[in-house]
Amino acid sequence: MTNRRLIEVAFPIKQASIDSVHEKNVRQGNISTLHIWPARRPLAASRAALIATLLPDLGTKEERDRLLLKLGGKVVIKTKKDGDDTKVVEETEGGILHWGNESSPDVDYFRQLIRKSYGGRSPRVLDPFSGGGSIPLEAMRLGCEVTANDLNPVAWFILKCTLEYPQRLTEIKRPLPLFALENPAFMAAHLKGAYDLKGKKLEKALQAVQLGMFPPEDAKLAWHVRAWSTWVFEQARKDLEPLYPIVDEKTSLAYLWARTVRCKNCRAEIPLLKTRWLCKRQNKRVLLTTTPNETRTGVIFGIQNDVPERGGNTAQRTAHDKVLGSGTMTKSGVTCPCCNHVMNSEYIRYEAMNLRFSAVMTAVVVDGKETKEYRLPTDNELILEAEAEKLLLEIYADIPFGIPNEQTPIGASRKGGGSAFNLRPYGIYQWHQMFTQRQLAFMGTLVRYTRNLHDPMEQEGYPPEWIEAVIAYIACGISKILDYGNTSCSWSISNEQITHLFNRFALPIKWDYVETSPFGGASGSYDSLFASLVRAIETLTVIPSDLVQPRIELSSAIDVKAQDIDVIVTDPPYYDAIPYADTMDFFYVWLRRVLWGLNETYNRAFANDLTPKWDHDTNNGELIDDAGRFGGDHVVSKQTYEDGMYRAFARAHEVLSPDGRIVIVFGHKAPDAWETLVSAVIRAGFVVDGSWPIRTEREARTRALSSAALSSSVWLVCRKRPETARPGWDHRVLEAMRANITVRLRDYWDAGIRGPDFVWAATGPAMEAYSQHPVVKKADEPGAVMGVEEFLGHVRRMVVDFMVGQVLSREGGETTGLDDVTTYYLLHRKDFGMGDAPASACILYALSCGLTDRALSDQYDILNRGSAPVEAEITDEDDEDSGEADESSEGGGSGSTVRLQAWGQRVKRKTLGYEAPGGRPAPLIDQAHRLLALWKVGDVVKVDQFLDEKGLRRSGVFSQLLQALIELASGEERALLESISNHFVARGASPSAVTTPMFSKTDD
Ligand SMILES: C[S@@+](CC[C@H](N)C(=O)[O-])C[C@H]1O[C@@H](n2cnc3c(N)ncnc32)[C@H](O)[C@@H]1O
Repeated sequence: MTNRRLIEVAFPIKQASIDSVHEKNVRQGNISTLHIWPARRPLAASRAALIATLLPDLGTKEERDRLLLKLGGKVVIKTKKDGDDTKVVEETEGGILHWGNESSPDVDYFRQLIRKSYGGRSPRVLDPFSGGGSIPLEAMRLGCEVTANDLNPVAWFILKCTLEYPQRLTEIKRPLPLFALENPAFMAAHLKGAYDLKGKKLEKALQAVQLGMFPPEDAKLAWHVRAWSTWVFEQARKDLEPLYPIVDEKTSLAYLWARTVRCKNCRAEIPLLKTRWLCKRQNKRVLLTTTPNETRTGVIFGIQNDVPERGGNTAQRTAHDKVLGSGTMTKSGVTCPCCNHVMNSEYIRYEAMNLRFSAVMTAVVVDGKETKEYRLPTDNELILEAEAEKLLLEIYADIPFGIPNEQTPIGASRKGGGSAFNLRPYGIYQWHQMFTQRQLAFMGTLVRYTRNLHDPMEQEGYPPEWIEAVIAYIACGISKILDYGNTSCSWSISNEQITHLFNRFALPIKWDYVETSPFGGASGSYDSLFASLVRAIETLTVIPSDLVQPRIELSSAIDVKAQDIDVIVTDPPYYDAIPYADTMDFFYVWLRRVLWGLNETYNRAFANDLTPKWDHDTNNGELIDDAGRFGGDHVVSKQTYEDGMYRAFARAHEVLSPDGRIVIVFGHKAPDAWETLVSAVIRAGFVVDGSWPIRTEREARTRALSSAALSSSVWLVCRKRPETARPGWDHRVLEAMRANITVRLRDYWDAGIRGPDFVWAATGPAMEAYSQHPVVKKADEPGAVMGVEEFLGHVRRMVVDFMVGQVLSREGGETTGLDDVTTYYLLHRKDFGMGDAPASACILYALSCGLTDRALSDQYDILNRGSAPVEAEITDEDDEDSGEADESSEGGGSGSTVRLQAWGQRVKRKTLGYEAPGGRPAPLIDQAHRLLALWKVGDVVKVDQFLDEKGLRRSGVFSQLLQALIELASGEERALLESISNHFVARGASPSAVTTPMFSKTDD
């Protein structure tokens, strides 16, 4: 046995990735369905990282492989039916990472093993940035003594619901309240769920319960949450059902609204409509019609069902539908349907900021039994907003802090483009403005009845911790309703359902929005949301009863309360990627109203109007890069963030035991920002000695790119640097790095790690030689030091040389002789071909080759910038993904892509292949492309001249490049390359090089 941890030597990277991605697709019972929190890490990745850090490396490959197999299982290839298609997918078989295996007997095996390796005690694990709690939850399930810390009270609350209540109440059952026993629908669900009763048996049991002959056993926590939330809901129904009338015996499911503004020219009231399509599916096409009224002071709405399709082909039909369904909004402004005057975005914003926006109900979606139907609102429905408003005073009279009038966030523009917040520019200054009056009435009613639960529960004899947990979980349910019950939700015309707010972590304004009926039973209704909440509680409470009670702390990571910690695994905030506190204030203001007064701990946590941002007096607070908190100064904001992260790592160093380990998760979209953070980690006193990329993105979000592109986070492993460590010298450090890394590169390559993943996996161990020293000095430059960036430049170059060296069939680590641009081109083309490639991966490759993506596109004409998501000036987002928010990815807008420039385009630059920008020798790839152009026009003389001038005949590496390009190309390009290659051989090229294939088939 070595004194290394397993994660410092090996990790089931593929299995952890497969199971993390799979977990994203699981909705039932997932902790993400308990309460929204941004950037929740997958449980599979968290579990794998914790186990591999808590366990020592067993020293031999056989032992290691055995343990990894037990942990991650085997990767198997399966074919699956996907509609009419057959899909080939990779899955894990065995192991404990797959969703559903979290309570398998093998987890107990690991629990015992971990305890044993800590001399029979529970290891102490800390996550100072716990957020939604994936890491501490897994640590608790593995039998550790956990401290889960976060600065944000919403996160703190979620942590209590995720860790504390399940741990404390897992095995406990209590009698159901009488009203639940008397509710046949509830009891039917209970007998089915808890006793697995069906059919006749279920009927009999139900009758017996009603006759008092079969008092069911006491029930677990989840059933109590279901029972008491049903009670709350029924009270709300009694009070508010008249606000959601049934018309023509058809239940109303949703109400569609449009904000309105007065025309600058004719003063008509204009509905702001992005589209007039209400539904556009195969065989169902419904349109909202808008006709100016007689006085041309507004529009009259109508519904057109069965809208016919026009146009011969798909493109024509799409174009026709676009025109047909066009609303009043375009990217340039708003067109008045009464006078055709176009108003620009500034006018709209000005009107909104001066509170001159209004809103009109445009249509109602009703349950037509077979299908959803659309109708116009009745006169009665049009006045219900005003009716609801009249109720608000009374509803909010007893609710602490009243209607939520706390300020909405300002937020700074993000460097990645756009701001996450679009509320204030459109006059939404206080949180209550994000709701219709009827939504406010419903939310207030839920809050009021939930607050009122305390006394009846006490009268039923439930102890305080039980009452606290039940109310807390109902508060989670209220948050779920809020996510679907606000005016930033839109109607998906393709699947006819509501799209919830936190589909992405931003607060956008919606021009046309949807309000669902809480009593309608459609998605977004009380029933459906609470059903998924209860399933999450059920899953969370399936845990052994003897787990150690976790400590949930509400403090800054900079001064987190902990000591003698064995392992820290943490996922810190990443620059400006997600404005946690600002977005989560949406929930905070409501949670505060539900939970205030529950007990002293809750009152302390929810004492302030809003969640903590940055406190300039104490120089402490939320660690995100938000210039808005520093008077718009981006430099100070970035520095404050970086300094804060350093202080948080320094605190982690203080609380970590001497032989402890810290694992830090980074979103890896921006390698340069990563370097800054790694510098902070080293400065705080850590030696970096491992890094593993884990893929966490769902396929749908990553647009079927090569597997190399899919990793979304890098898990960096560090230990404490001995206090005796002395400064190092650059040449020695580089030598040590080369010696260490060569074997590792071979191991990773043999383990099948490829593409950007390979670069990331190699970076960690390479850092060890560097970070062993508090500082690395330059031997031939007195007083100068080699920074992380420079060191990583050497490492990455070595890694990409190895990668290209592999395909050139050379020994690892040996330089290939290829210039930087050609090296980049080959890596890119090998991994992503000529299609869209993720910008993040390409930036990493560029950096590894000593280049930038900008140089590759602007100077070398190799890259085309792809489609970065752009926030339109006044159009809102139209994301039709109706799942929960994708919580995994941090690191700026996903989805920006780049492409390789086709050779035919490149050669239009006359100098291409003759000289590089700045008068340097032309990259080999440019020369190859020039040859293609010359060959294509059949100018053999010029081809030969070019070959001679550039000395290509004698260049073995050029022959290999040609061979590689042949393997990568297709169609005309390939045919041209083949004939050039034949010509090349015929005219006496280096024969040994020409025949060596660059890419072995197994790499594909
Ligand atoms: C990437 S998230 C953590 C997500 C978490 N791993 C999960 O699975 O849900 C980063 C967290 O850091 C928290 N945070 C930001 N600044 C903090 C500070 N100074 N101290 C403690 N937590 C902070 C944010 O509230 C956020 O929850």
